[in-house]
Amino acid sequence: MKHIIELRDVSKLYGFGDATTVAVEEVSFRVKKGEFVAVMGPSGSGKSTLMNLIGLLDRPTQGTYLLHGKNVARFSKWRQSRYRRDRLGFVFQSFHLLPSMTALENVALPLAYKGITQTRRLTQAGNALERVGLSDREYFYPKQLSGGQLQRVAIARAIVNNPEVIIADEPTGNLDSASSRLVMELLSDLHKSGHTILMVTHNPELTRYANRVVYMHDGSIIADEDSDIGSVPTLARKMYFRARKTEEDDLAGVSALMEAVPQMGGKKSSKKKPAKKRRTKSKTKKPKSRSKSS
Ligand SMILES: Nc1ncnc2c1ncn2[C@@H]1O[C@H](COP(=O)(O)OP(=O)(O)O)[C@@H](O)[C@H]1O
Ligand SMILES: [Mg+2]
Repeated sequence: MKHIIELRDVSKLYGFGDATTVAVEEVSFRVKKGEFVAVMGPSGSGKSTLMNLIGLLDRPTQGTYLLHGKNVARFSKWRQSRYRRDRLGFVFQSFHLLPSMTALENVALPLAYKGITQTRRLTQAGNALERVGLSDREYFYPKQLSGGQLQRVAIARAIVNNPEVIIADEPTGNLDSASSRLVMELLSDLHKSGHTILMVTHNPELTRYANRVVYMHDGSIIADEDSDIGSVPTLARKMYFRARKTEEDDLAGVSALMEAVPQMGGKKSSKKKPAKKRRTKSKTKKPKSRSKSS
């Protein structure tokens, strides 16, 4: 199957000189149409930066990004924003709804530049709200809605253009477990109806909805694991199923992952030619362990 998203050795650096942060470091990553990819990793590991690069909200410092096989760097600004508007949908942890607009108007916003009539825009927005089960909240303002409802409005806005790819950066990060479940069921429905989903999450339980889990650490993808829908894959379990209360527990989870990675890839990588020399500083980084080749 063709890859809709392909990153080749993509890096993103912020700042310069001594103050340079390597947010994403030489990441190569491909996504096929219809995949549901969960992205995990500790805070600061580059997950949001990676999503912003993929979502054309940011440009790579180095490397190549192919969207539908086309080099994004060659797109004009106008073409990039049209792509972003028509083919990518975004859901953020903090909803990003405009407080002065009703739910319906917020959802209709991405249609505003499409040269279609106001009536049609609102009808389409109404349909999107219906899909997320909020038809009865069309004329509510954000401050009148609960967190879970706000995120469902945000999902309606993300899907109003029927985008192929939905990028959700910790969409349940601010929600209680009941609302999280609803939001996840919606993403799962979208996946079933053919949308490609990229979702950042801290919650290993939510990897159940994904068919692939990618693990980031220090700007790199350190593991990439296929996963059956309905189950939590091995690494996610190893990494996170322990009591996590502090940042140190987080780090302990990462160490557990680091230990788990060579075992996962062990059988395969021992047969492969010696690992390529990397330009990275960290000694702990291991080659990725994606076992099934695509
Ligand atoms: N706009 C920015 N300017 C400077 N540094 C940034 C910026 N965005 C992210 N970073 C840095 O890049 C690294 C990765 O950040 P981020 O992608 O937000 O990680 P995550 O989403 O995994 O928590 C962090 O060290 C962060 O401080
Ligand atoms: Mg983030």
